[in-house]
Amino acid sequence: MLAMNYRGPFRVRVDHKPQPEILHPNDAIVKVTRSCICGSDLHLYHGLVPDTRVGMTFGHEFIGTVEALGPSVQNLKVGDHVIVPFNIACGKCAFCKQGLYGNCHESNPHATAVGGIFGYSHTAGGYDGGQAEYVRVPYADVGPVVIPDDMDHDDAVLLTDVVPTGYQAAEMGGIKTGDTVVVFGAGPVGIMAAKCAWLFGAGRVIVIDHIEYRLDFVRKYAQCEAYNFNSIGDPVLFLKKATDWFGADVCIDAVGGDAAGNAMQTITGRKLMLQAGSATALHWAINSVKKGGIVSIVGVYGPTDNLVPIGNVVNKGITIRANQASVKRLLPRLIEHVKAGRIDPKAIISHRVPLQEVAEAYHIFSAKLDNCIKPILIP
Ligand SMILES: NC(=O)c1ccc[n+]([C@@H]2O[C@H](COP(=O)([O-])OP(=O)(O)OC[C@H]3O[C@@H](n4cnc5c(N)ncnc54)[C@H](O)[C@@H]3O)[C@@H](O)[C@H]2O)c1
Ligand SMILES: [Zn+2]
Ligand SMILES: [Zn+2]
Repeated sequence: MLAMNYRGPFRVRVDHKPQPEILHPNDAIVKVTRSCICGSDLHLYHGLVPDTRVGMTFGHEFIGTVEALGPSVQNLKVGDHVIVPFNIACGKCAFCKQGLYGNCHESNPHATAVGGIFGYSHTAGGYDGGQAEYVRVPYADVGPVVIPDDMDHDDAVLLTDVVPTGYQAAEMGGIKTGDTVVVFGAGPVGIMAAKCAWLFGAGRVIVIDHIEYRLDFVRKYAQCEAYNFNSIGDPVLFLKKATDWFGADVCIDAVGGDAAGNAMQTITGRKLMLQAGSATALHWAINSVKKGGIVSIVGVYGPTDNLVPIGNVVNKGITIRANQASVKRLLPRLIEHVKAGRIDPKAIISHRVPLQEVAEAYHIFSAKLDNCIKPILIP
């Protein structure tokens, strides 16, 4: 089969790889019909994630058709069109039982933090992902959800990660009616977080980024204010002024370790790798939230340490909430929101690229060229 193949930082290509096989009675083989490239894939592509091995196929956002099933699978049948959550979860461990499908204790047994994730290095279990023609889906009775007949498959593929992650970012913010919510990052995740903040009752939503076409997009898509951090001076000061010097009620970090905007963070976090990615957006979030406010982090950082202003967290009495999105837990509600038209996921798709052109798609998405917001790959 054809599959994306990681060759080292900034080097990916399409190769022929052996087709995956059923290895466990609860496996499914899914024939991929659409997959996405995610901001999380860029951390891999930029070489920021430890133990990203040459030869791995990335891709944790995919939908497809069930091609084959292991003998113990009860909940799926061959031919079903399925949404496959990016988290690989056993459904039975203490963490899965709490709905913490991103923190499964079984699917990534050599780690104690994150559970298994498709196509996300050996730190997340070493599973090959869905930027390929076929993918092996373990715990097939747990993760996959059959796509409703009346759902557009372009919407469905965005329910594997981006929509649930943006939604959970807002949910973890504990937004109360009328709250001012600041979202750092106008990528697909930040766009969805801004959109979903209204569903939780926000009274004002402000997005910060430095890419004008994304700021323009989010202003229209999420009916929010959006500012370029390069033209507002110190973003923390700007946000304090904008909130009567109180600070925002809720700040969301939808950027993670690839953040720009502070030379010291960029050099130590992205160039020298003395910390697990640049924590610029997280810094701004902590410093611009109000005393007693909530900082919700969905931006991804590496497993080691970061330079964050923890003293300010203590002295301001900030609550920090963070996690990988728990996709399976959120899917039933999000399917309803999409069906009701309250969220229009496919509007963020800017590029449809044949799988064969995966290298070009990574380059365009990484360098933010051609007004790229969300590229999807068609095998
Ligand atoms: N927790 C989860 O479950 C989960 C799931 C999906 C993605 N993520 C993470 O969410 C983050 C965003 O993903 P994405 O797909 O939207 O990525 P993306 O790269 O498309 O978007 C990130 C945006 O942040 C902007 N940015 C850079 N520095 C900034 C700063 N200092 N302040 C404000 N904005 C800044 C960039 O210009 C870009 O538009 C990534 O870290 C990704 O790994 C987490
Ligand atoms: Zn993703
Ligand atoms: Zn589990």
